Amino acid sequence: MGGPMDLLLRNATLPDGRTGIDLAVDAGRIAEVGPRLAARGAVEIDAAGRLVTPPFVDAHFHLDATLSHGQPRINRSGTLLEGIALWGELKPLLTHEAVVSRALAYADWAVARGILAIRAHVDVCDDRLLGVEALLEVRRRVAPYLDLQLVAFPQDGFYRSASAERNLLRALDLGVDVVGGIPHFERTMDEGARSVRALCEIAAKRGLRVDLHCDETDDPLSRHIETLALETRRLGLGGRVAGSHLTSMHSMDNYYVSKLLPLVAEAGVAAIANPLINIVIQGRHDTYPKRRGLTRVPEMLAAGIPVAFGQDCTLDPWYSLGSGDMLDVAHMGLHVAQMTSPEAMHQAFLAVTEAPARILGLEGYGLARGCHADFVLLDAASPSEAIRLRAPRLAVVRRGRVVSRGAPLACQLDLPGRPASVDFRLPPRA
Ligand code: FE2
Repeated sequence: MGGPMDLLLRNATLPDGRTGIDLAVDAGRIAEVGPRLAARGAVEIDAAGRLVTPPFVDAHFHLDATLSHGQPRINRSGTLLEGIALWGELKPLLTHEAVVSRALAYADWAVARGILAIRAHVDVCDDRLLGVEALLEVRRRVAPYLDLQLVAFPQDGFYRSASAERNLLRALDLGVDVVGGIPHFERTMDEGARSVRALCEIAAKRGLRVDLHCDETDDPLSRHIETLALETRRLGLGGRVAGSHLTSMHSMDNYYVSKLLPLVAEAGVAAIANPLINIVIQGRHDTYPKRRGLTRVPEMLAAGIPVAFGQDCTLDPWYSLGSGDMLDVAHMGLHVAQMTSPEAMHQAFLAVTEAPARILGLEGYGLARGCHADFVLLDAASPSEAIRLRAPRLAVVRRGRVVSRGAPLACQLDLPGRPASVDFRLPPRA
C-alpha cells in the first residue's frame, strides 16, 4: 500500500449519471475512478453526491477585444458590421499592456467559472501584430492553469485587407496555433470561396487546424460551409476543421440543407455555434418575424456533426454582457435551439465540455483513469440542473490542485411558515 494520493474527491455524480464515485489524483493525473476507493488523500473533498464534470471548454472567444466595452464608444446598432467598424476604431488605440491585462483579468473569470481551455481568435489585421504578441505572452503566462489555443484571424478579410495574408503567415510563424478566416466578409462570394481554399491549403501545408468564422450572416445564400467541407475533404483535413457561427444555415432552404449536412458530416467538419452572440447580432435587418440566427444545432447533431457552443464575446464591441460562464452559453443555446428533451439538454452540456475539448484536440481530457486531473465540482445534481441553476462552481481543480473555490447559492428567507433558506431543487412529490 503506497502513501496517500495527492487529492481524493469522494462521492461524486458524473455527467454520465454514475453516482457515488470517488476520484483519486496522483501527480496531476487521475489515478483511479470508482465507487468507494480504499485510497486516502493528502487533500480530501466530499462532493456529497454533487456533479463533477471535466472542465468547461470555450471553443470560440475573442480575447484581444474582451473587457474593452465602451472604448472608444458603444455599438449603437448592435450589428456585426458596426462591431467590426468599432473594433477598427479601437485597434490603433490598443497597447500591449492593456490587451495583456484585460486578457489576464478575463482568464481569472474563466478559471473561476471552471473554464480551463479557450480557443481565442486573435486579429492579425494590424501590421504591428500587437494583439498577436500580447496574446502569445498571455498564453505563456496562463499556461499553468489555462490552455489557450490561438487562431490567426484576419478580421478585415484575408483578401479584402491588403496585408492580411502576409500578417496571417507572420502570426503562424510566431507560434499562433490555428488558421482562421472570415469568408462572408470578403468582397464577393467568389473571393470568400477562394479564401477558404487558400486558408485550408496553408493549414494542410503546416499541419495546423482550421477554424473559420463562416457564414456569420442572415443571407441564406452565404454557403461557404460547403466550400469548407469540400476543401477539408480534398486536403484530408477531416477532424481538424471547424466552421464557427454558420448562422446563414438558419435561413437556408431546407432542401439545400438536407444535402449540405451529410457533406459536412462526411468531410469531418465540426460546428461551433455562439448562442449569446448569434441571438443578439443576427436578425438585425429583420422587422417581424425576426430570425434567431442560431445555426441548426439539433439537426447537425442528428447528422453526426460535432457541435460546440462558444462564448465568443464578453464586454466588447459586439456584446455588452457576458461573464465567462459556459453554463450561461449552454442555457441560451438550449433555449434558442429548443433542445428541451432530457437527451438534448445533456447534449447542450456536452457542447460546452466534451465536444469543444475534441474540437480543440485537447490531450488527456476527461474523467477516466490517466486523464489530467482537471475537473469542476458544481452545486448541482446533474448536467441539466447545472444549466438550469447556472450552478455555483464549488471547486475548480487543475492538474490535481484546487485553483478556485466558490460558495453555494445562499439566501436567507424571512417568510411566515416557510423554511429559513431557499432550496432550488425540485421538491419531493407530496
Ligand atoms: Fe467570433
